[in-house]
Formats: sequence, C-alpha cells, structure tokens
Amino acid sequence: MKSFDVVQVRKDFPILQEKVNGKPLIYFDNGASSQKPQRVIDRVSAYYEHEHSNVHRGVHFLSNQATLAYEAARARIAAFLNASSPQEIIFTKGTTDAINTVAFSFGETMHPGDEILITGMEHHSNIVPWQMLCERRGCILKVLPVLENGTLDISKLDHLLSEKTKLVSVVHVSNSLGTVNPVKEIIVKAHGMGAKVLLDAAQSVQHLPVDVQNLDCDFLAFGGHKIFAPTGIGVLYGKKELMESLPPYQGGGDMIEHVTFEKTTYNTLPLKFEAGTPNICGVLALAEAIDYLSSIDPLGAFRHEKELGSYLRDSMREIPKIRFIGEAPDTCSTLSFLIGDLHPFDVGTLLDQQGIAVRTGHHCTQPLMEQFKIPGTVRASLAFYNTREEIDEFVKALQRSIQILS
Ligand code: ALA
Repeated sequence: MKSFDVVQVRKDFPILQEKVNGKPLIYFDNGASSQKPQRVIDRVSAYYEHEHSNVHRGVHFLSNQATLAYEAARARIAAFLNASSPQEIIFTKGTTDAINTVAFSFGETMHPGDEILITGMEHHSNIVPWQMLCERRGCILKVLPVLENGTLDISKLDHLLSEKTKLVSVVHVSNSLGTVNPVKEIIVKAHGMGAKVLLDAAQSVQHLPVDVQNLDCDFLAFGGHKIFAPTGIGVLYGKKELMESLPPYQGGGDMIEHVTFEKTTYNTLPLKFEAGTPNICGVLALAEAIDYLSSIDPLGAFRHEKELGSYLRDSMREIPKIRFIGEAPDTCSTLSFLIGDLHPFDVGTLLDQQGIAVRTGHHCTQPLMEQFKIPGTVRASLAFYNTREEIDEFVKALQRSIQILS
C-alpha cells in the first residue's frame, strides 16, 4: 500500500474534475453524502453488465456467482468492522433503516417504564424511531445534555443511567458539530447498568478506525453513501447472541426457514433480518468502496482530514463576526458556523454560485439547533480528497459572500 497522496487520490474521483456555475467544484458537503471513486462506479456497471441475478435463490450459474459475491462482501465488511463473524452483519437500506430495525426488534423486548437514553446531539433518525417505540410500548426516552462547547455532559451520565435503562443509542461523531463522542466510556457505563448500546456510526466509519469488538458496542449502524459507496445500502452490526435472541423486523422471502399458513419459522442469522431481495449491487459496491479505502492508506487519509479540519477552523478565525457552533477538543473535519446575522441559506447560495457545495439548515438535528437558539448553520464537512487550496478558495469565497450580503 502506498502512503496517502491527495493529488493521486483526487484523480480517482471523476466528479471532482467537474465545474459548477463555471467554477471548479469544491465539494464540502461530505457529511450529507460523499463522492464515489471510479472503482466503485465501475463495480456497479460490471455487476449489471456481467453478473446480475438474484441471491440465495437460484440453482443457475449467475445466481450462484451473485450469492458468492454477496456473501464475500459481507465477510469483507465484517473484517472492516472487526466483527467476530459475518453473521453479525445485516444489510439495510442505510443508517436510518438499521436504527429502525433495532428500534423494532430490540423494541419488542421492552416493557412499559423501560428507558432509552439518547443524547442532545442526535440526528432525527436516532430520535424519532425511539419516540415511536416509546409510544408503542410505553417506554421513556431520556436525553443526555450537550454543553455549550458541543460536547456531551458526561457528568450527567451516571444520574441518567439506571436499571430501567435498556438501551443507550448514541452518535459516534456528530453530523452537525463534528464532535467525536467518548463512546467507549459511555459503553462501559451503560454495560455496568445492564443496558445495551447502539452506536450511530454514520459519520464515523469514514473518518476514523472503528473496531466493534474493541468498542464492545452491541449494535452499530452506518450507511454506504457517506463512505464512498452508493445510496440505498447500509449496515447493521449486531452481536450474534443478541441478534439471535431478537424477533425479525420485516417478514418476507429469504428470512424464513419454513412457512405454513399456521406457523412460520425463521432463518438463521443474518438472513433472518434480510427480508426480500436485497440491494445486491449496493452490497458489492460497498465492499469495493471499503477495499478502495484500504488501498489508499486509510490512516494517512484520516490524518490528512484531521489536519484539514484544523486548517479550516484556523483559517476562519480571522473572519469578522464568525461564530463556530461546537468547539469540542476532539472533532472530525466537520465545521458548523454562522457569520453575524447572515442567514445560513443566503451564505450557502452565494457559495454555490462560486462552485462550493456546503449544507445549510438544521442538519436533521432540530433539538440541538433549538438548544443553541439558532435556526441552523452553514456546515462545511470535508473528506480526504479535499485540499488546503480548496480551503483557501473557500475562505475567499466566504469573504466575497459576506461583502455582498452585508
Ligand atoms: N445526515 C446527513 C447530513 O448530516 C444527511 O447531512
């Protein structure tokens, strides 16, 4: 493996050569979705040109090939997360679908008065499924607060955890603030009270090494499209014994062992949780994206991103009336900010006119925005293919936007 080289790596992403509004594209919206390397794009077309067939169903050549490739991809993803078995990897539509799977299946084991603990910086997809579960089963949702600097108020954890807590569901890296949460400490404490832990890793697997055995999380969810794979594919990791003990989420083909009109018995893991024809191509492309990431020196890539994140923050400190939303000591390369009373949407629109893609708004974290008493932010979220030169251009474009809007 060669050491990380951003100039070379950029050549792998055809979209980075595009122009937007007549300007070279500067893509700083990786938190919303990342771009795809040629290898992943080629994997999708090769699959449909030469390999497509349904999995786990046919006796014919193509179906057997597709099944082998699909299961090999599962093993690849298990290795990526250091899961103890490919059976612990369930393919889903995305992070949201993975969290909803747990909310339903684990939720079926919960009773009135049982508690779920989340945090004040969760994405809506790690709030609403629990609220729906609480309504369904009479459970109680508790929230670990966020401090003014965008870190979790860990001092409140012991007070919020009790023997009633059945599940702690926490975001590993905040999508709006970039905060890297002390999840290992949370997991140890939650386990100490007998609670299970779900990690929302949607914004972490592409930025830092994630080892599920080392973390000892019980469930982990992430989506493919933020880690250089297509949309519509995601992963739920779940500890084998735990997943075996849970009822399935959806019923349908593939998740059964035997069906009669009187009674159905279910398949073993992982298929028990994969009803219906899966996103076969998405699974293969996700494994390809992970292979790609391994091939470019991931630790070097992560280091580069972290340096870029600091460079971005430092470069922006000079901008008059800048306000960073979240200043945690440990962050990924995601930065939310406001400038005076300029509306984030106006800033984002002017940046777009200069070829720069950022996200503006509440970032699907409305309760967090409410806590900061703001309607939303401008968010620049970087990936390893971004550069210092792009950051310099971004800061200049921001200054031009401020001049126009002031
Ligand atoms: N969750 C994605 C984001 O943060 C869509 O933008």
